[in-house]
Amino acid sequence: MVKSVLFVCLGNICRSPTAEGIFRSKIKTKGFKILHDSAGLTNWHQGQSPYEPMQTTCEKHGYNISDLKARIIKKEDYRDFDWILAMDDQNIDELKNIYPSDPDNKIRKITSFIDGSLNRINVPDPYYTGDYEASLNLIEQAVEAFLNQIFE
Ligand code: 4NP
Repeated sequence: MVKSVLFVCLGNICRSPTAEGIFRSKIKTKGFKILHDSAGLTNWHQGQSPYEPMQTTCEKHGYNISDLKARIIKKEDYRDFDWILAMDDQNIDELKNIYPSDPDNKIRKITSFIDGSLNRINVPDPYYTGDYEASLNLIEQAVEAFLNQIFE
């Protein structure tokens, strides 16, 4: 039984807080109790709220993420979470530096749960692309697919 999920991205102000916001909304609707958090691979935005354009896009889709605060990933996170879901291959590479082995196979790219052509694509970083809608839509599909898989 899955008890905890950590969402990871580079800055922890766009993609991973969005994933956490979508995830907590969906599990609440389903009545599941699962711990969730998000973290960044850098301390660039430590303590900050999600980036304003990301918050606005989330709000438009019914997800309020204004309470979330950025933090850097910690060594103990590997022990403390059942799943560590990253947004792109660069995140995965950096996670492998922090956790040189993944004995429980808990580090995954979030899109790997999606069936079909979107499987394993990177979630584009909207901080650079400017396309907050596209990233949110892909993250939403990935979170749905993850929930379907773990609760099938
Ligand atoms: P995120 O996006 O990894 O989805 O939170 C980024 C946010 C900020 C920066 C890079 C990526 N930055 O360079 O400050």
